[in-house]
Amino acid sequence: MIRDKGCGEINESDTGSTISLAGWVFRRRDHGGLIFIDLRDRTGIAQVVFSPDVSGSAHEAAHDLRGEFVIAVTGEVTRRPEGTANPGIPTGMVELYASKLTVLNTAAPLPFPMEEAAEASEALRLKHRYLDLRRPELQHNLIVRHKAAKVMRDYLDERRFLEIETPMLTKSTPEGARDYLVPSRLNPGHFYALPQSPQLFKQILMVSGLDRYFQVVKCFRDEDLRADRQPEFTQVDMEMSFVERDDIIAIVEEMLRRVFKSVLGSDIHIPFERLSFRESMERFGNDKPDMRFGLELKDMADLVKNGSFKVFLDALASGGRVKAINAEGMAGLSRKEVDLLTEEAQSFGAKGLAWIKVKNGFESPIAKFFPEEILGQMAERLEASEGDLMLFVADKEKVVHDVLSRMRLELGKRLNLIRDEFRFVWIVDFPLLEWDSDERRFAAMHHPFTSPMDEDMEKLFSVHAAQGELSAADRQALEPVKAKAYDIVLNGYEIGGGSIRIHRMDVQRKMFELLGISGEDAKMKFGFLLDALEYGAPPHGGIALGLDRLVMLMVGAQSIRDVIAFPKTQKAVCLMSGAPSSVEVKQLRELNVKVNLPSQ
Ligand code: AMO
Ligand code: AMP
Repeated sequence: MIRDKGCGEINESDTGSTISLAGWVFRRRDHGGLIFIDLRDRTGIAQVVFSPDVSGSAHEAAHDLRGEFVIAVTGEVTRRPEGTANPGIPTGMVELYASKLTVLNTAAPLPFPMEEAAEASEALRLKHRYLDLRRPELQHNLIVRHKAAKVMRDYLDERRFLEIETPMLTKSTPEGARDYLVPSRLNPGHFYALPQSPQLFKQILMVSGLDRYFQVVKCFRDEDLRADRQPEFTQVDMEMSFVERDDIIAIVEEMLRRVFKSVLGSDIHIPFERLSFRESMERFGNDKPDMRFGLELKDMADLVKNGSFKVFLDALASGGRVKAINAEGMAGLSRKEVDLLTEEAQSFGAKGLAWIKVKNGFESPIAKFFPEEILGQMAERLEASEGDLMLFVADKEKVVHDVLSRMRLELGKRLNLIRDEFRFVWIVDFPLLEWDSDERRFAAMHHPFTSPMDEDMEKLFSVHAAQGELSAADRQALEPVKAKAYDIVLNGYEIGGGSIRIHRMDVQRKMFELLGISGEDAKMKFGFLLDALEYGAPPHGGIALGLDRLVMLMVGAQSIRDVIAFPKTQKAVCLMSGAPSSVEVKQLRELNVKVNLPSQ
């Protein structure tokens, strides 16, 4: 061994012993006769002192050390002199007096100083990810990720789950994003799809009687990227036979309780709160509510009906909604600042933002449209008092919810209302179907294998769709049908989703019929699962947790890029390896693929 211990592992119990350490030169300070090096490795930082009194040659050689040189040192661990200890770090009471220095490797001048690496541009850091990953914060994130996955694996093993791998070269799966395709050399003109999830395979494992499956698995989705979305990401994917929704929920809750306890030492309370999809939409405007603060959305329709503000009345008359939130304490905003808020709402899709200040009565360009008594009731509903600002959006329900949920988050941040805690919530009772107004047909809200609620089964079978064509009455009848689907949300992020599956072939056929998926189409896309369902499929269900998002929230990172060793940019590019890249014509020829670039 080149070293005896990690740099971060020496402490007062080592004083007097001679120890070897190895690592990277982090900082170097020349103090006249003495040279100090902060030596860094994964475990932490040790202060190494080179003194001509201990070793003239080591001291001499230390003059040539530069940032990120890789060195090994041997020497005696001593207590730091009075007044020079650094209680802020675990090794801060001691230092190592080097009697021997070996330069194991040099380093070229750095593209960014390691001490200020966090401030370097993200593009530069991603290009030199090997340097970026030397930062203790990122190493910490990867360690937390490792530990979280390990706790989950151990827990699932204890609960008799089997980790089973499923193919990466496969067929399109039903999660609804765009596929990454891989051309097949041996089957010209044919393509594999990289899995958007192991959904179909894990269901088949249940048909095969494997009973309890899990996998920590890469999934691939070619979708527009955001801070919490990567083209390849990792799921902790699970499936179980002979279970109901609450069994799966309980298993996941206990798993997360253990993860937070053993990795972070945090006690989280189980069972988690549950909200119906409808309630979540009404109170928070989305299905991934951040429940660490209030500012909830309130329906104002019944009140604004008593006024004469045309924008509101028109919205209601055309079947829309009028809802509001209370921007607490913001009545002091200037006209210009309120205009900025309006612009923000417009950037989220609103036509405008109506506002009423509670300030010596009610101050607003629209106050004149409402009787005083109604203004009072508005304030009461929003729990608005002197100094508050009521913000209204009138529009189609989707726009109202979209805009106000985003305004709520913005204001929560701006007003510093968001508590520092882990707030989990299950969203349940999702609609089974979602109307796609462009395509003029229903799509599955989760995926087409999600079971409807038992009580809705009759209604489902009463509707007959010829080639996906549904009458207005049928459409109305189907809209309230609920699914046995559930999402788990943490601090405003969807960290997982799953469902009880359809295990009866007649129900599955009905589902395809209502989704306008022809028998042929279904056979082509999911034929192997449908075949399997014919041969004695047990009732089953499962869930997939997004590991990247979970770890991001555990470590308090702003993006999942910070918890993935080699992430991609918004444009799905790996700046370090340069993927994706063009390939040789020969390769394309072998694959029978012709590239047809769009003309510029
Ligand atoms: P779903 O599509 O909801 O369900 O995915 C499960 C979880 O995976 C995470 N996730 C992502 N994380 C990072 N980047 C992405 N692009 C991305 N997409 C999804 C989210 C999400 O909650 N087969 C079903 C699960 C099931 O029904 O059992 C599925 O994949 O945290
Ligand atoms: P206007 O009558 O267009 O001058 O608008 C009067 C106020 O209502 C302005 O503050 C607008 O921002 C606001 N407003 C306009 N459209 C909407 C809407 N759809 N929802 C909420 N407020 C709106």
